[in-house]
Amino acid sequence: MKNIIIFASGSGSNAENIAQYFKDSITIKVVAVFTNNALAGVINRMEKFNIPCIIFNREEYKNETLFLNKINTFEPDLIVLAGFLWLVPEYLVNTFPNKIINIHPALLPKFGGKGMYGMHVHQAVKQAKETETGITIHYVNNRFDEGKTIFNAKTSLTENDTPESIATKIHELEMAHFPRVIEGLLSN
Ligand code: GAR
Repeated sequence: MKNIIIFASGSGSNAENIAQYFKDSITIKVVAVFTNNALAGVINRMEKFNIPCIIFNREEYKNETLFLNKINTFEPDLIVLAGFLWLVPEYLVNTFPNKIINIHPALLPKFGGKGMYGMHVHQAVKQAKETETGITIHYVNNRFDEGKTIFNAKTSLTENDTPESIATKIHELEMAHFPRVIEGLLSN
C-alpha cells in the first residue's frame, strides 16, 4: 500500500476529489490531511471518508522533531499540497526529496510566487489578457512554486472570460487530472 498525506489550507475540493478517487483502491490510500487552518472546509469534507485531519500551528510546523514525528506516524510515500498556503520548510523538503508535490492554478513560471493563490492568480491572468492558462503540478522545493514541473494541462481563454470563469475552467482541469497524476507517480 502506498500512503498519501494531503496538506490543505482551505475549501478542500481537490483533497475531496483525491480522497474520492482512491477510496476503493487496494494500492493507494489517503491516510491523513494536515491543515494549518482549524476552520478549513477540508475538515468537513474528510469526515465522510474517515480520513483523520491533523490541525497544526506555526510553532508546531517549525518544530522539526515534533512535526516529523507527526508526519512519520502515517508513513507517507507522497505528500500532496492541495491549496496549502504556507511555505514548506527546508527540513521537510530534505526529508522527503521528490516526494512532495503541489498543484498551482496557472502555467508556471507565470503567475507564481508568494501571495499567488486562488482568485489572486485568476485575477492576474485576466489582467494580463492571457489567451491561455492552465494547471501546473510540480515538485516542491523551499521556494514558492519553483520546483520541477511534472505535468501541465492548458485551457484557452477569450476576452469574455472573467476571473470567475477562469476559476471554473481551472477547477475542471484540477478535478480531471490531479488524482491521475498522483496515481502515475505512485505506480513507478
Ligand atoms: C486550487 O485551485 C489550487 O490550485 C490552488 O488553491 C486552490 C485550492 O482549492 N493552489 C494555489 O493557488 C497554490 N498557490 P481547494 O481548497 O478547493 O482544493
